[in-house]
Amino acid sequence: MLNTEQIRKDFPILQRKVNGHSLTYLDNGATSQKPIQVINAISGYYSSHNANVHRGVHTLSAESTEMYESARKKVAKFINAEPEEIIFTKNASEALNLIAYTYGDASISPGDTITTSIMEHHSDFIPWQVLAKKKGATLSIMNATREGAIPESEYSKIGGAKLTSIVHASNVLGTINPVKEFAKLAHENEGVILVDGSQSVPHLPVDVKDLDCDFFAFTGHKMLGPTGIGVLYGKKELLEKMPPFLYGGEMVVDAKVDGCKWNNAPHKFEAGTPNMAGTIGLGAAVDYLANLGMENVRAHELELLCHAIDSLRQVEGLEIYGPSNPQDRTGVLSFNIEGLSSIDLSSLLDEYGFAIRSGFHCAQPLHDALGISPSARISFYIYNTKEEIALLKSRIEEAKKVMS
Ligand code: ALA
Repeated sequence: MLNTEQIRKDFPILQRKVNGHSLTYLDNGATSQKPIQVINAISGYYSSHNANVHRGVHTLSAESTEMYESARKKVAKFINAEPEEIIFTKNASEALNLIAYTYGDASISPGDTITTSIMEHHSDFIPWQVLAKKKGATLSIMNATREGAIPESEYSKIGGAKLTSIVHASNVLGTINPVKEFAKLAHENEGVILVDGSQSVPHLPVDVKDLDCDFFAFTGHKMLGPTGIGVLYGKKELLEKMPPFLYGGEMVVDAKVDGCKWNNAPHKFEAGTPNMAGTIGLGAAVDYLANLGMENVRAHELELLCHAIDSLRQVEGLEIYGPSNPQDRTGVLSFNIEGLSSIDLSSLLDEYGFAIRSGFHCAQPLHDALGISPSARISFYIYNTKEEIALLKSRIEEAKKVMS
């Protein structure tokens, strides 16, 4: 199990007060806080090593390149991929769009089907809606039950698709989708599958080879890393065949007036000066999580989740969305309280130093399909405690009284 008391000492921000109260940070689905090890890795890079990568033979450039490529190896190992299968992007949205603009643009033709689900974040929904329109393809959307699961009757939509893009863990419902099964279905029907792992990689052990997905996207800032750095994993044989994404320096090995020869993957997809400091910060975040052990991270969050479900169920008029079995979900809990809007609730909680999210959580089609108002969401991470959940429950009860 995790030693939360020890972990909390690594996060300077957890010492601060918000509106005179200790900060209770429960908005980890939006972004996680950063441990001192990550902050130091970034400032250490700028203080002692900063230079552009892959471009110079001088000492600083060699050091910078070595640190950048070493972060790629760490990320690859963390999800059981090969380093050349890891492309650094600016965030998960860019990683997902990269597939739409490269693989999608090159392979989708009029009449083809692209499948996604109703529980996607806008970043894994809008690119497919736009691509389908542009190509004259069909966008097929797997529905979810009120319980927050994709029923088996919807799985046939994967069979008919040339490309399926599906979220691993929902940022609203916490639902963990059976993406390994989805990958099998896609491959049996000669389709390709992309998985949005933004809400899974920070919280669960992930092995892309075991899942057998073709592409897998996630972001650094939700897993203790800095903002501005994301990851796209792709099977090597697919990456080699794909056209580049952006054009410019580093993605080309031979540039002539009459044409160019593209670099190999992953560099083919990393045009321009990359986010060196961000990548190195992400490497430090991966070290931190690997050191804790992702099984332990999952066990800690599951314990908090069970505790939170039990506590919040006692609040009259509070409805929790998503799977009722905690094993089927990550540490994300969205809910609404009768007679108290999620915006009012989060503002009232902020007065007591709580950070929670309210709104559609960039998943408006899901809220529409479930017929629910913008919701309140709490989301846990390695530094959260049962005491914070107990305090949350009593503050919610107070907020209800204020608004009644
Ligand atoms: N995608 C982030 C969230 O779910 C911002 O809050």
